[in-house]
Amino acid sequence: MRAVVPVDTGRIGFADVDDVRPGADEMVIEVAAFSINRGETFQLERPQDGWRPGKDIAGRVIEAAPDGPPVGTRVVAHLPHSGWAERVTAPATQVAVLPDTISFAQAAALPLAGLTALRLLRTAGSVIGRRILLTGASGGVGHYFTELAAGAGACVTAVVSSPARGEQLLELGAQDLVYDVGDAPGPYDLVFESVGGESLPVALSKLVPGGDLIWFGEVSRQPVTLDFFDFFTAPEAARIRHFHYVHGRDDEDLATLVRLVASGRLHPELGRVEDWSRTDAVLDDLRERRIRGNAVLTLHEEEAAPMDPKTVVTRYVEAVAAGDLPTIRAGFAPDVVWTYPGDLPLSGDWKGREMVVDEFLGAAAGNLFAPGTPVTIKLVNVIADGEQVFAEWIAQATARAGGAYDNKCGGVFTVRDGLIVAVREYLDTDHARRVLFPAESMP
Ligand SMILES: NC(=O)c1ccc[n+]([C@@H]2O[C@H](COP(=O)([O-])OP(=O)(O)OC[C@H]3O[C@@H](n4cnc5c(N)ncnc54)[C@H](OP(=O)(O)O)[C@@H]3O)[C@@H](O)[C@H]2O)c1
Repeated sequence: MRAVVPVDTGRIGFADVDDVRPGADEMVIEVAAFSINRGETFQLERPQDGWRPGKDIAGRVIEAAPDGPPVGTRVVAHLPHSGWAERVTAPATQVAVLPDTISFAQAAALPLAGLTALRLLRTAGSVIGRRILLTGASGGVGHYFTELAAGAGACVTAVVSSPARGEQLLELGAQDLVYDVGDAPGPYDLVFESVGGESLPVALSKLVPGGDLIWFGEVSRQPVTLDFFDFFTAPEAARIRHFHYVHGRDDEDLATLVRLVASGRLHPELGRVEDWSRTDAVLDDLRERRIRGNAVLTLHEEEAAPMDPKTVVTRYVEAVAAGDLPTIRAGFAPDVVWTYPGDLPLSGDWKGREMVVDEFLGAAAGNLFAPGTPVTIKLVNVIADGEQVFAEWIAQATARAGGAYDNKCGGVFTVRDGLIVAVREYLDTDHARRVLFPAESMP
């Protein structure tokens, strides 16, 4: 079978290698996609004899293990090595089953980075209401960690190199971005440090007395120098804790990550998805910091079956209710058209995903409602007939002018290939005019 092999310091090639031979407790998986982790770029520089790269894969079971899922099941797996190949073996303890709604590319981006983020948070204990500083935040681990920590109630300050590297982190729940760790306002209850070099001592100085710095990487390749006397000016009794993500079996935590993605609470940031023939070039791009989030290589075109129209609309309205911007955006086709009724300033056709999300929905949230007050969306009913879905919801909020907005709304959604392509909305436009646009109601 074909596999990626190390050929020279840091570089890779393709070779025909012996086909896999599963152990008694192992299944064989036909690999559809794999992802590259920063640590693997380091391992490639000094490969051990016989070692092949590849820890994160997604694919289909072609030979079952005694206690694993049956042949044909779509799975994601975390392996010790050798995953960048047409086939791999894995025991059930390293595998989770994938629903059809998660693509192989999304799934392949999950294991090492997702497990690391999940276990970093577990190491920290409860983070609700705690202030967190995260360095190296725009990578694979950083995106997962930010969304999980924000979802668990933490206030996350993310250190990134540019606004473009941080914009998705803000959508995933980061409270603020800084472009230099020295500018982080602080103090922080917890620091998660993975850059090393000069970053760690500066990040350490941002802790509250008795705070924890959890050290999990050295992506800059610069060793850390700590001066004993610096501790006299640093927060008293700060602790540095070393972290490594490996914790025995991975099946349960992988299943948790899959469940979070399937329910729209975790969003893999696929900075790059390419055919695996381009693995060497993508490795270069990762080393040169040209990729935001995860880099994924695919062996087969096969994709997850698109979600059925009723689920797409239900998920969309629930995402609006939760203020989950990434899921809202992902639900629309690029050329979606939203038709708002009546003759209000919002009425008419809103064309294209950016216009619908950023201008139409964004205008409603940003200009029409009182800042800092809740907007409540209650889904009442969803009825589907082929690609047409009718949804009914109640929207309640405090208008910017102070009045109580309370409207029963309906929308006829057209859904194709798992994406919303058109919406015709109906609502009480008189109520909207009186409460949201009082100036328009003047005689
Ligand atoms: N301890 C563990 O068990 C464990 C497990 C997994 C990963 N890790 C470590 O965690 C770190 C993040 O992993 P990852 O997979 O998320 O990596 P990644 O996707 O490559 O992301 C690396 C991040 O570090 C930033 N960075 C800052 N200074 C950098 C520099 N001098 N060189 C390169 N990047 C720099 C990058 O920012 P830009 O966007 O500006 O490029 C990027 O956000 C790595 O150090 C990795 O080895 C540790």
